[in-house]
Order: sequence, then C-alpha cells, then structure tokens
Amino acid sequence: MSNKNNDIKIEIIQLRNQIKQWNYEYHVLDAPTVSDELYDSAYHRLVKLEEQYPQFNSNDSPTKTVGNKPINSLTKIFHQQPMLSLGNAFNYEDLLKFDQQIKKTLSENNIEYVCELKIDGLSISITYEKGELKTAATRGDGIAGEDITNNILTIKTIPKIIPINSKLEVRGEIYLSKEEFNRINEKQQQQNLPLFANPRNAAAGTIRQLDINIVNSRKLDGFLYYYINATNDNIKTHEQALFTLQKYGFKINEQWQLCKNIEEVWIYIQKYQKLRNTLPYEIDGIVIKINDLTSYDMLGRTNKAPKWAIAYKFPAVTSVTKLLDIFPTVGRTGKITYNARLQPVIIAGTTVTFATLHNGDYIINRDLRINDLVSVKKAGDIIPEVIAPIISNRQINNIIFKKAINCPVCKTKLEQVPPEVDQFCINSDCSSRILKSLMHFCSRNAMDIIGLNEKILLRFLDLKWIKTISDIYNLINLRKEILSLPRFGEKSFTNLANSIILSKQNSLERLLFGLGIRHVGQKTAIILAKKYLTLNNLMEATFDDLANTNEIGPIIATSVIDYFLNPTNQQLINNLQNFKLNFNYLQKNQSQVLNGKTFVLTGTLTKSRNEFIELLNNYGAKITNTISNNTSYLIVGENPGNKLAQARKLNVKIINEEQLQNLLKEVAKNG
Ligand code: IVH
Repeated sequence: MSNKNNDIKIEIIQLRNQIKQWNYEYHVLDAPTVSDELYDSAYHRLVKLEEQYPQFNSNDSPTKTVGNKPINSLTKIFHQQPMLSLGNAFNYEDLLKFDQQIKKTLSENNIEYVCELKIDGLSISITYEKGELKTAATRGDGIAGEDITNNILTIKTIPKIIPINSKLEVRGEIYLSKEEFNRINEKQQQQNLPLFANPRNAAAGTIRQLDINIVNSRKLDGFLYYYINATNDNIKTHEQALFTLQKYGFKINEQWQLCKNIEEVWIYIQKYQKLRNTLPYEIDGIVIKINDLTSYDMLGRTNKAPKWAIAYKFPAVTSVTKLLDIFPTVGRTGKITYNARLQPVIIAGTTVTFATLHNGDYIINRDLRINDLVSVKKAGDIIPEVIAPIISNRQINNIIFKKAINCPVCKTKLEQVPPEVDQFCINSDCSSRILKSLMHFCSRNAMDIIGLNEKILLRFLDLKWIKTISDIYNLINLRKEILSLPRFGEKSFTNLANSIILSKQNSLERLLFGLGIRHVGQKTAIILAKKYLTLNNLMEATFDDLANTNEIGPIIATSVIDYFLNPTNQQLINNLQNFKLNFNYLQKNQSQVLNGKTFVLTGTLTKSRNEFIELLNNYGAKITNTISNNTSYLIVGENPGNKLAQARKLNVKIINEEQLQNLLKEVAKNG
C-alpha cells in the first residue's frame, strides 16, 4: 500500500472510532462531548473518504449504521391504516358480553375464535414491496410511528425477503426473552449503567436505539400476528392468515389455538394463566380474535379498538413483603396520602419499594401494622398498593397505626370532615402544597415547562425566587441570579427561559388544568375550554350554566365558582394576564392554516421532535428531516447543525422558537 493510501486508511479508522465514541456518549451516556458542527464535519469527511476509497469500506462503519444521528432523528412513518389498540376483558363476564355483542351484530350463533398469547412487547408494523422489506415502524400515536427499519433488519427471525410480489403490511410484537433481558441488565450493571425495569422497557429502549451496534448486541425477537387486508389476498380466516404468514417465513407464536366457542376460550385462558411463568418471554394476557375475517367490516371499530378482538388481561400480580414504615405526604390540594415503605420485592418484573396506603381509614380498616408481612399488588402502570396484612404471621409487638394529627410538613392541625375519608392540611402556605402545585402547573399535561423539576423548584422556593405560580414567569428576568447557581449554565438558562416563554402560548385547557382547580382534571379542563373559549367567559359563568354543562354537574360547578371567587386566585389570574399568557382556547384543526408548509428542525430546542410534530400538525404543517427547496421554515435552536448553512443557501426562512410562537399566534388570529 502506498504511503498516501496508508495514511487515508488510518484516518478512516480514526474517524470511525471517534464517531462511534461520540455516538456512544450521545445515545448511551446521554452526555455529548462535541458540538453538532464538529460531529457533522467529521461525519462528512468520513463519508467523502469512504466514497473516494471504496477499498476501505466496512459494514462496521458508523456511516453504514443508524447510530449516527441524534435520537430525535428517527423519522416518522405514517401507517397506511391506523394502528389501533384493543378493548380489555378482566373476567369471564366481560368475555361473555363480548361474545354476545358479536353474536347480536352478526346475527350468528356459532362464532369461532382464535386465541393467542398477548406478548408483552412493542407493536410494530412492517411493509414489504416486491418481496422486499421496505419499512418498519413503531406504533407511535397510532397514526404515525417512528422509522425503525434499520433496527428491525437486525432481527434474524424477521424475513428481509418474502416469496410474494404484491405489497404486504404485517404487524406484530417485538420483545426480549426473559433470559436475554437478564443478560442485558447484568451487562448494564457491570458498566454502571441504569437497569431496565422489565423486558418490555428494555425492548423499547433497544428498538429506538440509533446505535446499531447496541441493537445488534441485544437479541430482539418478534412474533407476527396480523396480516393487514388479508381478505384482499383471498384469505378468509385468521387461522389461514397465520398459516400464510408462517409460510412466508414469519415467526408466529405457536401457542395459538382455534376455539369453537367462548367456553373453549376460557379454558385456553386458564391454561396459560397457569403456564405464564414457565414461558421464556413475558405475556400479560390473551388476545381473542374472531376467526372469520369476512365479518370484520360489519363489526367495525371504535376510535381506539376494533370490535372483532379483545385482550383478556391477567389479574394484577401480588406478592408478600414486610411493611417497614408508614408515612404521610401532602398533595397540592392539601390531601394527606399515607405511603408504605416496603422491604424491596420484585413484582411482575419490577422492584417495588414504596406502595400507597391511600388514607388513614384504609389502614385502620385493614389493621395494617408496621413490621407486618403484607400482600402488595401491582397492576400495570398503577401505583403499587398494599392490600392486606398476613395476620397468621403477626408478631405481638408490631406497631399499631395511628393517624397523623398535624401536617407532616408545616405542622398545621389536619382536618377531616366526615363523610370525607381524607384528611387535609388546610394551610394554603404549606410549603409542600406550594411545591406540588408548582410541579403540577409545570407538568407535561399542564403547561409543560421543561426544566422546572422538583429539585429546581425546591431550590427556587428556598431562595424565595418563586412563591406562587405567576413567579415562574418572572424567572426569565433573574438571569444573573440563576446563572450564579452551581451547575446552572447559560444553556440550561436559555432552555428554561424558552420553555417558559413557549408555555405562555398554550391553549386555555392546559392553563385551566395547571391551575389545579379542585375536580378539574384534564378532561374537564378541555370541556370547559371548549365551551367557554376564554378564561374571562369562564370566570363570568353562572353556577347554573356551569352545572348544566354536559359532564360537569354541581360539584365541579361549585369548585370552579369558588376558585374564581377567591381573592388570591383572582390576583394570580391578574398576574398571569400581566405576563401576557394566552387565555384563549386554541381550537385544534381550527385552522389548518399552515397546510402544505414544511418545517425542519436543527440544534437543541426546548421541546422534543415529537412535540413539535404534534404542535405543527395541529396547524396542518409537517416536519421533515432535510432542507430542500420545498422547506418553508427552518427552526433553529442552540448549536445548530449543517442545516443552517443549507437553509441560508436555499433562502429558506430561518426562525427561532419564539418567532415560531409568534408565527403560530399570527396565523391562528388570521385563520
Ligand atoms: S392483535 C388492532 N395480537 O397488545 C390491534 N395484539 O392491548 C391488533 N399484543 O397493541 C392487535 N400480543 O401491541 C394482537 N397476539 C397479539 C398480541 C397483541 C400482544 C399487543 C399489541 C396491541 C396490544 C393491545
């Protein structure tokens, strides 16, 4: 090899290693050490060298893998047909109801079902064209998912080539076996990396990984169970669809069974409920599907789920452990919740250390005592709950529970007005109540202010920079003070300030929910915002008008009226108005005023890519990945990448997040 070629080879190898290291820092450690510019220039240099010197090509190069762009560069794929969820059944009665409803709609008494294991993984959709795997996507919001094609290609059991030419879309579940999950977690532990809670989380973390080396090192697997539009290919039953998929080379879960009636379905369920722990992968129930595909259209679907199938969920899993302590906490409304500290116990794949005990009466009614052995239940995403003591095991000196008399934080005497089961701290200046109200206001489903987490809010409260919700909007004037805090750099301040500014434009329902008006949850906030359109209209609403609103009623009406009559709350609203918060309901679809416009993102922004997609979709606009002549706007954040230069070259309008907000405000006004 000539000297020059040798130098090139060395440079290529060095670039590859460097880029892999940066990928690792970015994706795995979540701690990038280089700017986008430096990354991009190194990456492009490598691409150029690899093009010029193909003799040094290697499949191991980061240019051949997907691990070379930030996590949010996963592009969206729109599903040809929405990816729905399934309705749930929890007992035999629910199944009978499902069966009867089907018989009624189809006027048919002999219904055959196919039962399948409900694999606890992630649903995916794969498309094939001309016999070749074209795309693979996650479920996402059901309408569009993320492009995970490259990662799916690493799964050996998913065929890349199938023996048919026509277009095919198949759906299924990606999962990790219990064994593989344990292996991955052992490795995480050895490397001092955070552990995955369960195989499902580990699979989710892997499938969205952009570092192909990591994906490759974890043995993801997939079962396929859904042949989209099978009837178009002359397939008449689900049974036949499964056989066909298998014939094409897909991996089908072999435990499926054809059942002649719902009684047989129940026997199948009982069988697998018992066998569940012996399976090499996690299942969380059984999926029951009508066998006759030709009846699917007649049965139709709801917004969320088809009516031709149902998911039987296994009962929540319980376990026994020791109750080490009982302690109360104060919520934003002053409500006292009692919590259990437990000897750590693994339930359904996750370690449980704390569980809720709800209120004092709940504990007294069950006579739960500290040091008792107790049964603990964990159902899905619901907070673990202590169910009952194991009385037979009780030691004589286990400590009998007594309700707290004073607030655990501000020491104010607690109130409980029967028949109310909860005790309340009625001190509105209680620091725990204030902290929790602020956390609620900033939370994702409320004003979605990123960066104001519990720790930071606590710090700002201690420093008296915040006393109440409206003070959040004054934080942007405390730049110097905030920058003087340890570990608070210019970048975190800018991100925080942007997020605060952006939140001012939120639609009314987010603000209403964020204010924490008693009984006004997310759904009620939407109903109120849609009906009254502005905060002022709502503040002027009469009790009768409120109480007569569908789904509102007298309790919520009283709570809303009381809230706005309270002078402290009136002052808060005044302050928020002075900070120029949007008080109007911004109708989604009100205007697809940005229809046809395309946006591209670059640099670090205060919202995730998905959040921008959601925001802009509401206005009819789209987000794409690359700058072209068709790009309408480039939204620029901190440390923009190459896209900025490309946009300048093509004369694409360049705006920052604040300008985007102004633009949206402007178009919404005019639209
Ligand atoms: S059929 C229209 N079959 O369970 C939806 N789903 O609770 C068709 N799942 O979103 C889904 N195993 O992610 C089906 N054998 C199976 C399944 C299964 C797991 C998941 C799937 C679905 C969720 C619904």
